[in-house]
Amino acid sequence: MHEPNISQRPHTTVVLAISADGKISDQWRSHPQFGSANDYAHLEQQVAAADGVLFGAATLRAGGSAMRVLQPELIASRVGAGKPPQPVQIVCSRIGKFDPQLTFFRQPVPRWLVTSQSEQEYPGFDQVLAFTVNGEIDWRSAFRQMFDLGVKQLAVLGGGELISSLLHLGLIDELWLTVCPILLGGATAPTPIGGEGFLESAAPRLQLLEVKPVDQEVFLHYRVQPQT
Ligand SMILES: NC(=O)c1ccc[n+]([C@@H]2O[C@H](COP(=O)([O-])OP(=O)(O)OC[C@H]3O[C@@H](n4cnc5c(N)ncnc54)[C@H](OP(=O)(O)O)[C@@H]3O)[C@@H](O)[C@H]2O)c1
Repeated sequence: MHEPNISQRPHTTVVLAISADGKISDQWRSHPQFGSANDYAHLEQQVAAADGVLFGAATLRAGGSAMRVLQPELIASRVGAGKPPQPVQIVCSRIGKFDPQLTFFRQPVPRWLVTSQSEQEYPGFDQVLAFTVNGEIDWRSAFRQMFDLGVKQLAVLGGGELISSLLHLGLIDELWLTVCPILLGGATAPTPIGGEGFLESAAPRLQLLEVKPVDQEVFLHYRVQPQT
């Protein structure tokens, strides 16, 4: 990951595993398990390099737990660099309702919520970032607040609805996509960018930074070209 840019928001990197036909889950939106041990290690490295990890409520509801750093050497390296052992885990939700029995709420990690609703209580979260614009989350303000709270490097772990919102606002800087050897199909299966798509003429352009084939998978690293 690179240094944060001057706009006072986190430098933001999406990290996803995709099927060879470009899906992030099957059409039943199961918790994906198609990545290899290599992909898991890559994901853990990206999480370890981040100050915060952001994901959508549907991703949390599907998986039930946070992707936290477990490798002792990665934790030691964070602590040696003056960071807390774990990045903060940041969920986004409009409705802010979660099953309190989720493993997530028992994991030894800091938990934040980004939401558009400031009126209610959010048990289980250490910090609530409530910013609203036109009834939706005001992402620019939320990103500014994250930055001010020390999140300089942010890893976005999905899903497609969240990534779509951030991409439309120009808040994504890089992507790591792991292409996995499986075909999931399904017209309604989620893809890396859900929500509203882009007209091809206005679509974000990417610069390929790295390609790493490892066993049966290909790790693709892109930079999102700034919009002109
Ligand atoms: N292959 C991979 O690497 C990977 C990674 C992550 C997820 N996944 C899979 O992808 C699927 C989930 O993706 P998804 O696109 O359906 O959902 P998602 O983006 O994970 O979550 C959608 C939910 O998050 C909240 N949310 C997202 N964007 C928001 C915004 N701009 N403003 C306010 N709230 C927002 C809302 O929560 P509320 O409903 O609470 O308001 C929304 O219903 C799951 O099957 C998951 O397992 C795969």
